[in-house]
Amino acid sequence: MKKILITGGAGFIGSHVVRLFVTKYPDYHIFNLDKLTYAGNLANLTDIENAPNYTFVRGDIVDADFINELFETHQFDGVIHLAAESHVDRSITEPMAFVMTNVVGTCNLLNAAKNTWKASGYEGKRFYHVSTDEVYGELHNPEDFFLETTPYDPRSPYSASKASSDHFVRAYGNTYKLPIVITNCSNNYGPNHFPEKLLPLMINNILHSKPLPVYGKGENVRDWLFVVDHARAIDTVYHAGKEGETYNIGGFNEWKNIDIVRLVCKTMDSKLGRPEGTSEQLITYVTDRAGHDLRYAIDATKIMNELGWKPSLQFEEGLEKTVDWFLNNQEWLDNITSGNYKEYYDKMYS
Ligand code: NAD
Ligand code: DAU
Repeated sequence: MKKILITGGAGFIGSHVVRLFVTKYPDYHIFNLDKLTYAGNLANLTDIENAPNYTFVRGDIVDADFINELFETHQFDGVIHLAAESHVDRSITEPMAFVMTNVVGTCNLLNAAKNTWKASGYEGKRFYHVSTDEVYGELHNPEDFFLETTPYDPRSPYSASKASSDHFVRAYGNTYKLPIVITNCSNNYGPNHFPEKLLPLMINNILHSKPLPVYGKGENVRDWLFVVDHARAIDTVYHAGKEGETYNIGGFNEWKNIDIVRLVCKTMDSKLGRPEGTSEQLITYVTDRAGHDLRYAIDATKIMNELGWKPSLQFEEGLEKTVDWFLNNQEWLDNITSGNYKEYYDKMYS
């Protein structure tokens, strides 16, 4: 049975990757390593928590001794690394947390993988690093897209920490011949999205008739992909991606922030039976994010042509599914906004 370590599996994207691997590959044993920071929530995984091929491990990737021991004990065949500090706004107020988890934590995993795998000549091993389109900087010309060859130009502490981790992963591939692969993905949306990020924040605030804070003039552009399609892409690249390669993942689905917020308002009004235009009145323009990147847009041609992956959902369908999920899981939202979920796990794991 292959043993695969997935880091950050209690978070937004990680929970979808863990679920996909546990259910699709009964001959793999999936270890989910997560520190359960404010962003980690085991309620994201209740449907698979008792699966015989699944083990949850609470731990910190910044703790090198713990990581080395974990690799020694379990002799993993592969790593899919998602654990990270992921929110740009938090990186502006507390950048060192991003340096520690995203850079030092990634290097600890690289060292542990190198040291446990080198005796076997890395045969059958794979270190998969999950990264972001933000490493490429921002776009101004509407005709431009991020390609795998676009030079790195990170502009926030978050994107600088992710760019640094990408460089370390490539350096270990080049220097130690560690069998690595990297993907850089655009903005995800869908179930389990933590309500500090744009779409779930807007959904939660509309539910409670609270102001909808749009940064600056709402002109910034993001390229949105349904999270399950990202998980499918990770499955594809883990199994079929070429060693040492990078693949961009995105939905060719660009939206100005103000337009996507208006669409969420319209969808929510219709679902909640409120007159159209009710939620739009909550839109409030607020001070812009410091160093706010103007536009991200991924060219995902390489993964589509070489590996045959493509998004399965049209955006309107994905957004409707997402809104329905949040409306049907208001307890999930309330447990986060009240902080109850943290108290529960802190007691359970202390
Ligand atoms: P998230 O914040 O929802 O989840 C991160 C998870 O990592 C949490 O469960 C958290 O507890 C865990 N974690 C944090 N620090 C840890 C540590 N020191 N040790 C162990 N676990 C730790 O993040 P997400 O949005 O699911 O993003 C997952 C990955 O995908 C990140 O690497 C992120 O950079 C990347 N990514 C995210 C997006 C997006 O739109 N959300 C897009 C592209 C790439
Ligand atoms: O592009 C991929 C990245 O997408 C990931 O690497 C990050 O982990 C993920 O958090 C996301 O980063 P963004 O900064 O693009 O996501 P966020 O949801 O924070 O913001 C989306 C856009 O909406 C951005 O232009 C800022 C704006 N925004 C955000 C919030 C939280 C607002 O206007 N108001 C808000 O309240």
